[in-house]
Amino acid sequence: MPKRSSRREIAPANGKLGVMLVGLGAVSTTFVAGVENIRCKKALPIGSLSQMGTIRLGKRDENRSPKIHEFVPLAELEDLVFAAWDPIPDDAYTAAVKAGVLDRPHLEPIADFLKRLRPMPAAFDQQYVKRLQGTNVKRGKSKRDLAEQLREDIRQFRKTAELDRIVVIWAASTEIFLTQGPAHQSVQAFEKAMEQNDPSIAPSMLYAYAALMENVPFANGAPNLTVDIPALVQLAEQRGVPIGGKDFKTGQTMMKTVLAPAFKARMLGLSGWYSTNILGNRDGEVLDDPESFKTKEESKLGVLEYILQPSIYPELYGNVFHKVRINYYPPRGDNKEGWDNIDIFGWLGYPMQIKVDFLCRDSILAAPIVLDLALFFDLAQRAKMSGIQEWLSFYFKSPQTAAGLYPEHDLFIQQTKLKNTLRWMMGEEQITHLGIEYYEKV
Ligand SMILES: NC(=O)c1ccc[n+]([C@@H]2O[C@H](COP(=O)([O-])OP(=O)(O)OC[C@H]3O[C@@H](n4cnc5c(N)ncnc54)[C@H](O)[C@@H]3O)[C@@H](O)[C@H]2O)c1
Repeated sequence: MPKRSSRREIAPANGKLGVMLVGLGAVSTTFVAGVENIRCKKALPIGSLSQMGTIRLGKRDENRSPKIHEFVPLAELEDLVFAAWDPIPDDAYTAAVKAGVLDRPHLEPIADFLKRLRPMPAAFDQQYVKRLQGTNVKRGKSKRDLAEQLREDIRQFRKTAELDRIVVIWAASTEIFLTQGPAHQSVQAFEKAMEQNDPSIAPSMLYAYAALMENVPFANGAPNLTVDIPALVQLAEQRGVPIGGKDFKTGQTMMKTVLAPAFKARMLGLSGWYSTNILGNRDGEVLDDPESFKTKEESKLGVLEYILQPSIYPELYGNVFHKVRINYYPPRGDNKEGWDNIDIFGWLGYPMQIKVDFLCRDSILAAPIVLDLALFFDLAQRAKMSGIQEWLSFYFKSPQTAAGLYPEHDLFIQQTKLKNTLRWMMGEEQITHLGIEYYEKV
């Protein structure tokens, strides 16, 4: 019989779950329209681990591999209700048509549903996203005032949609690069800085603050600092609310976090990794601004350093030239092309090259991540897991961790961590992959 620890107490997923999306652009509309198509049985939730994935329980010869959504008490897709904020007033149908990700057969039959999703005015400031101009914007005396308006939006949505629970996901544009400063060090300093309109408080931080004050989990799908500051980590812990980020791990970086661990596993050296992208959606336009690109660049560059551990393997990874470029190229729309040229070396130092050409669809890769994050953050909240949810690193390019811990980037270690956390929640045995008992019979 499998050994079981005690099961975590998890409140049931009764009632409706509100998913509040900051940003109603390509990713958000692809997510919402996708969920509705799936609910209407017109498509499958491909790419969603929570919906399609299974989890092995116990020993291999027990043959227990339920679907994840049958194993842990997740909200049902039927129970999701959506809301969004965006400085551009387009409803979800118009925004989806403009984004050009989904074809008409996935939009027309649900056009009325999408048209009903109109974005609430955003807490937006062009200082933080230079290439955007918005008209659907909140006005307020101070940043604190804007945060209070966002809190009121959350409360109103809870009431009018008769929701049981809510999660907030940042799927809005990448803000300019910010580093931690004095205003980010404590909740008190943060609140004072909001009142004083301190420039180190970005709009994304106002949404995160508002969510936490309303006891709502917050996940950050972009590389902005946002909730990755001591003040908001403290607030999340104080209020018992889950948080996490940063930056959905989708195309090129997902491939990087698969390939780099393979080189390291086989002790193959790396001398250079050149990654370049062309994309033509609004995200690409925003990232064409050097200050927003810098935020993205930091998020994409960190990955190799942590996976390869050059200080432990100086002969193999001590001298890696790593470059990441993103080029805005309108004809491609959301259909990004990412090229990687990888210079590796093997036995006696002989060089080899690998080329990856990933013709991907950005938002098609991101939408199932939004779904899984909404469901797993809600699960974490019901399981009373507060603060940083490192077990969801699987979904992020630049995973947020406790102070002093380095992030785990290897996709398969992240997957093991996620599944072991689900086993732990449900009181199932951890899978160690030892398996010696199949060979050394007692
Ligand atoms: N594969 C992917 O698509 C992928 C992967 C990782 C991260 N991301 C990130 O996800 C985010 C969304 O990507 P997208 O392709 O949907 O971009 P998009 O430009 O289509 O949509 C972003 C939306 O956010 C809105 N916005 C900007 N500032 C806002 C604010 N302060 N409040 C509310 N709304 C605001 C914009 O008006 C826009 O409609 C970007 O930051 C992107 O870098 C995307």
